[in-house]
Amino acid sequence: MKIHVKKGDLAESATEAAVVAHFEGEPGLDGAAARLDKMSGGFIGDVIGQGDFTGRLYQILVIYSRGSVPAKRMVAVGLGKRSDLTLERLRGAFSKAAQHIRSLNIGEFATSLDLGSVALSIDRIAEAVVEGVRLGLYRFTPFKTAEREQIREIANFTILDTENGALKIIKAAVKTAGIIADAVSFARDIVSAPANEMTPADLANEARQIARREKIKCRVLDEREMRGLGMNALLGVAGGSNEPPQMIVLEYRGGEKAGPVIALVGKGLTFDSGGISIKPSEKMDLMKDDMAGGAAVIAAVQAASQLALPVNLVGLIPAAENLPSGKAYKPGDILKSFSGQTIEIVTTDAEGRLILADALTYACRYKPAAIIDLATLTGACVVALGDNVIGMMGTDEKLKGEIREAADLTGERVWELPLWEEYHELIKGEAADYRNSGGKAGGAITAAAFLSKFTGGYPWVHLDIAGPAWLMKEKPYIPKGASGVGVRLLVQFLRNWNRDRKGA
Ligand code: BES
Ligand code: MN
Ligand code: ZN
Repeated sequence: MKIHVKKGDLAESATEAAVVAHFEGEPGLDGAAARLDKMSGGFIGDVIGQGDFTGRLYQILVIYSRGSVPAKRMVAVGLGKRSDLTLERLRGAFSKAAQHIRSLNIGEFATSLDLGSVALSIDRIAEAVVEGVRLGLYRFTPFKTAEREQIREIANFTILDTENGALKIIKAAVKTAGIIADAVSFARDIVSAPANEMTPADLANEARQIARREKIKCRVLDEREMRGLGMNALLGVAGGSNEPPQMIVLEYRGGEKAGPVIALVGKGLTFDSGGISIKPSEKMDLMKDDMAGGAAVIAAVQAASQLALPVNLVGLIPAAENLPSGKAYKPGDILKSFSGQTIEIVTTDAEGRLILADALTYACRYKPAAIIDLATLTGACVVALGDNVIGMMGTDEKLKGEIREAADLTGERVWELPLWEEYHELIKGEAADYRNSGGKAGGAITAAAFLSKFTGGYPWVHLDIAGPAWLMKEKPYIPKGASGVGVRLLVQFLRNWNRDRKGA
């Protein structure tokens, strides 16, 4: 879909569908909607007057203008109460409108962002609308062959404004939002790809391709190099699979030469069967999403480069497949991690923390100002918080605060769980330094406590995305399946980074 920003009035636009917004409980329309309605002779206002369309959040009304205005159809979308307007509601409402238009097989639509008087700035509104439309229209179709011809996408979306000043701001915001939506879509694509098509080597190739296109350096450590370094936790997990593990390293230097480095670490389990501690077969297919953290990191680095963000980044994605075989690691095994610390294997299904341990140790090489890891780490996090929320744990209050702010802006919400000393007791080893599971109770937290042992004392935040990485039921602008969660959160965090660190 191409997005255009043009000078003009929606009321005079010969579009297939002119999308306007309406706030619940208001007798008339406002902003661009009011002008269009007036031109049409009050068609939309009539329907509101009848009480058929109230502007309830996500409500959609399609009216055929029958020549009263140049637009063939007028599509009104409900935004709920004006005083309750949020970026999240805007994303959802414009997604719903775009999805409805696509369901009618319409190939093009236009809108205006003039909503009358609202508390949100025009750049934020533009970003939210473009994100909502792009992310809401996302579909994963590369493996569909039978109904290929029936898959029709909207080709063009135009945003109109009459003022030059606003147009300039909208153009910049549309570009930014487009880059972010591309990154989220990319993450969704590679998470949706089945494990046979997205092996650790495939994941490494995705990272290499991005590096080739962008100002990003990509290095991939192979099995031999990992052996030389002593990354035995990662190698242990990968042992049962014929697919060799990959340690993907992406470097983007957009900040000052000697400036601080931010390390992003993403779990890249391309398939998690549980290994010898094998999972029940029901829903095991979903474990192709166990590289969603890694996907988010690759996508965020791509977006940072395309947005030319003034930050220095290293993205680390330990990639492996967890399978049972005669070469697989076993419960009771003791692995010596890259950090030198030893780990007793209680269950081979707690593999994410093992590959992350070695990646976190690698991150310490950069003496990072911040380490953020994203991982579909524990079912316990889903039990604790449900599947809509990211579990956050970490050692640095400032960093947690910055993540929280980015979360609130993007709607990728986080909720903190405690990392108190008692939890650390639970992962102490019997024969080794640590054990890779602290049991069922507080499982999300003991997993984080385990990770903390490999962060070298650098400011660190862990984000458990086991819940929101894959949606069983769609949300207003997130179709069911791979959500691409974490990408927008990370990018927003990085956009705020310099502002927050000035003088620090
Ligand atoms: N990848 C899973 C976590 C997971 C479970 C993500 C369900 C999404 C949905 C992880 O590797 C895992 O298996 N964790 C275990 C840890 C336990 C054995 C200590 C879990 O959560 O059951
Ligand atoms: Mn597992
Ligand atoms: Zn896993």
